[in-house]
Amino acid sequence: MAHPDPPGSRPAGSSYTPTLPAAEAERIRQWHQRAYEAARTEAGSGRTFSYLGRTLVVPPGVQPITGMSHLLGEAVLNEVRPDDRVLDMGTGCGVNAILAASTAGRVLAVDVSPIAVRTARDNAERNNVADRMETRHSDVFSHVDGRFDLIVFDPPFRWFAPRDLFEAATTDENYRAMTTFFRDAGRYLTPGGRMLIFFGTSGDLAYLKQLTDEAGFTRQTVAHQDLVKDGWRVDYFTFRLTRTAAAARPRPPA
Ligand SMILES: C[S@@+](CC[C@H](N)C(=O)[O-])C[C@H]1O[C@@H](n2cnc3c(N)ncnc32)[C@H](O)[C@@H]1O
Repeated sequence: MAHPDPPGSRPAGSSYTPTLPAAEAERIRQWHQRAYEAARTEAGSGRTFSYLGRTLVVPPGVQPITGMSHLLGEAVLNEVRPDDRVLDMGTGCGVNAILAASTAGRVLAVDVSPIAVRTARDNAERNNVADRMETRHSDVFSHVDGRFDLIVFDPPFRWFAPRDLFEAATTDENYRAMTTFFRDAGRYLTPGGRMLIFFGTSGDLAYLKQLTDEAGFTRQTVAHQDLVKDGWRVDYFTFRLTRTAAAARPRPPA
């Protein structure tokens, strides 16, 4: 099992500074503040979503289904195969693990938030896939073992320090979790393994691309949609990542 980095530390060898111009970073910060306030108001005492034929109950502090969730959800339904072992990293309410479990019989859903883990388990039962889907608390890969044919991740888009539970679903201080994820993901993939990653330009997309390139992944865009809000266009993408042959080859002993 991998050992987690100490809380709040950056993964060894990584250092994050925004690749965006300062004005763009500031615009994202303001956008984030508005989204955070709206999320607190909208969350109320919890919400129930009907989404792609599933019923998902989402308490405050867990990422809700949004107008863009289908970009990843439909990609999961298109990608998953019956024999796949699937990992849903940062599962939130369990949505993508539950979608995967309609086809695959071995799905592991993990999240660092204990409320998310409980919510994902409850939603798996509600949608009759609990026997095909295991839920676990894990800080990135800290409590993940074995290899997967398909890994799904919709990481927090922002890099600020979260002030509370509401923010922790959407911001990952200095991209510690996302950096760790791409640094280590290859070790958890089978040789022909694939990943589906959701991200947008309300985060540092260039940094995500840099991480995927450094880790030796080939990126294909399988879904894209833009949204104009407050006069600002944000683009959302689902990427399908596979490893280049050289990156997938086991490294010889040092
Ligand atoms: C943007 S939400 C996505 C939730 C869900 N997958 C979805 O698509 O609706 C990001 C999720 O990543 C989780 N997360 C953040 N840091 C994490 C970490 N270090 N390890 C595991 N999960 C993490 C958050 O708790 C949150 O549930």
